[in-house]
Amino acid sequence: MSAVRRNVTASARPMHETDIAQVMEVERVNYPYPWTEGIMRDCLRVGYSCWVMETDGMVAAYAILSAAAGEAHVLNISVAPGHQGQGLGRQLMEHLLQAAHGHGADTVFLEVRPSNKVAVHLYESMGFNQVGVRNGYYPSDVGREDAIIMARVLSDISS
Ligand SMILES: CC(C)(COP(=O)(O)OP(=O)(O)OC[C@H]1O[C@@H](n2cnc3c(N)ncnc32)[C@H](O)[C@@H]1OP(=O)(O)O)[C@@H](O)C(=O)NCCC(=O)NCCS
Repeated sequence: MSAVRRNVTASARPMHETDIAQVMEVERVNYPYPWTEGIMRDCLRVGYSCWVMETDGMVAAYAILSAAAGEAHVLNISVAPGHQGQGLGRQLMEHLLQAAHGHGADTVFLEVRPSNKVAVHLYESMGFNQVGVRNGYYPSDVGREDAIIMARVLSDISS
């Protein structure tokens, strides 16, 4: 999609309570309708698969996955503005696919705003296909925006 970019390599590690302040800083700048800190804490508390990537000791990206009954759902994936376009989103999504496989999921689902062209491009390039639409799912400045539901089958992921 972009002609020239600097790729950064970072590994994902489990998110801890102590990461939440930094995670919330990124959450609030990345989304016009961010999750609350309480939602983020609940994701950790209920045992969702919660991950961060650090660069220079600071949270550069985070993601949250739920997995049960052979399905996984990407609930959040977010890269700090200063680190976007450097390959972290793709690496983190690859990590989530592996984590989903590790949890026994055979399909991963997510929702995305159709206006979020970068995210839609990333997901399509990673094998996600549109499987449905949730009408008026997201709040927006001009009423409500639909969500595209995308799915990726994990049959090609090795153990
Ligand atoms: C969507 C998001 C997670 C992608 O992460 P990222 O680290 O920026 O993406 P990557 O660097 O891994 O790039 C993924 C693809 O998107 C493209 N891309 C990234 N930023 C772009 C930009 N600003 N403009 C155009 N293309 C861009 C890359 O070129 C790459 O495609 P390519 O490999 O075909 O060249 C990130 O932009 C983000 O956090 N956005 C805000 C929160 C959000 O929308 N989350 C998703 C909610 S569903």
